[in-house]
Amino acid sequence: MIVSKLTLRNFRNYDYIDLDFSPKLNVIVGNNAEGKTNIVEAIYYLSLARSFRTSEINDLIKERRQFATIEARVENLPTSKQIVALLTPSSKKISLNGKQVRRISDLAKLVNVIVFEPKDALMFHDSPLVRRNFLDINLSKKSPVYLESLIEFEKLLKERNSILKQEEIDKIHLDVVTKKLIEVEEQIVRYRLAYISELNNVLSKIVKSIKGDDDEAILNYNPFIRMDEKFSQACASAYMKNLESDIKHKATQIGIHREDFSLNLNGKDIATHGSQGENRLVVIALKLAPYFLIEDESDKPIVVLDDALSELDYVHRQHLLKFVSKMGQVFITATELNVSNATIYVVNNKNITRRNT
Ligand SMILES: Nc1ncnc2c1ncn2[C@@H]1O[C@H](COP(=O)(O)OP(=O)(O)O)[C@@H](O)[C@H]1O
Ligand SMILES: [Mg+2]
Repeated sequence: MIVSKLTLRNFRNYDYIDLDFSPKLNVIVGNNAEGKTNIVEAIYYLSLARSFRTSEINDLIKERRQFATIEARVENLPTSKQIVALLTPSSKKISLNGKQVRRISDLAKLVNVIVFEPKDALMFHDSPLVRRNFLDINLSKKSPVYLESLIEFEKLLKERNSILKQEEIDKIHLDVVTKKLIEVEEQIVRYRLAYISELNNVLSKIVKSIKGDDDEAILNYNPFIRMDEKFSQACASAYMKNLESDIKHKATQIGIHREDFSLNLNGKDIATHGSQGENRLVVIALKLAPYFLIEDESDKPIVVLDDALSELDYVHRQHLLKFVSKMGQVFITATELNVSNATIYVVNNKNITRRNT
């Protein structure tokens, strides 16, 4: 899929802009704080009805304005659709060809955007939540069943935690909820294991291409309970064993909500052994990996690399540019970039000029 046209009104620092994009490489250049990220943020917004930078709608609406709109033409050949997001301080409404979209999951199928943003470079130094989010977002986009399991899990976890907070714990209720929780967790762990293994099938190839060395990158994910035929039994006894501590903390201490994964580059943990540049390159590779797990060409996601190249040396920049130029629609933001075969957008004082190289 590609975004061929984007119109913003009162979005971030823009009053009004209207842009046509290339189906291949789009490079947005400009000085700091000119509004480069704001453009790719608007594109990303259309995929999840939320920003990757803020959870406040007000941040997205231009100061002293009452509303903002993001309008886009999305082509998923042979069809072409008009998506409009209307943001007010208290609401967001998304419409598709004039009809309101009620479920965000319907949106993700229509506009799938994968993004690397500067803070991702330290993804393996960040909290486990950041890594779980990466898994959960990508898996949910791929499998609606996973998303449903995750929502069900959150509901059951809340219920279990509220039982743990009772003065007098209702053991029968707790047993019922724990049993249901384990069933959902088994599903989730199976999905996570399968997805990590799929990611591992493509990750080393991407790392080799953009690092240019013969590197091996492997994700390690160990479920909180080993996945085999005894999973639910082992889970039940783990919850039993942990019950006293759960009651003391008034919260469920073990489960899929505490899981994590790590990445080994050539046998060494990237978090403790990798250089900053290695961390950045490997995370870029990981962020690009879901692209290669989507088979249907017309469903391939739009790729956003926000300020990804700034701290890379010349050689690695060239490798990365060559790599992404073989992908579908790609947006790169940078303060300066010499690149051929791209459409360049120069952002200057809220004006954007377009040229081809
Ligand atoms: N809601 C808003 N109203 C007006 N200006 C905004 C709003 N949100 C951000 N800005 C401005 O947008 C600019 C930052 O844009 P950004 O896209 O992050 O820049 P960069 O080109 O460095 O990526 C800043 O000047 C900031 O003040
Ligand atoms: Mg920026």
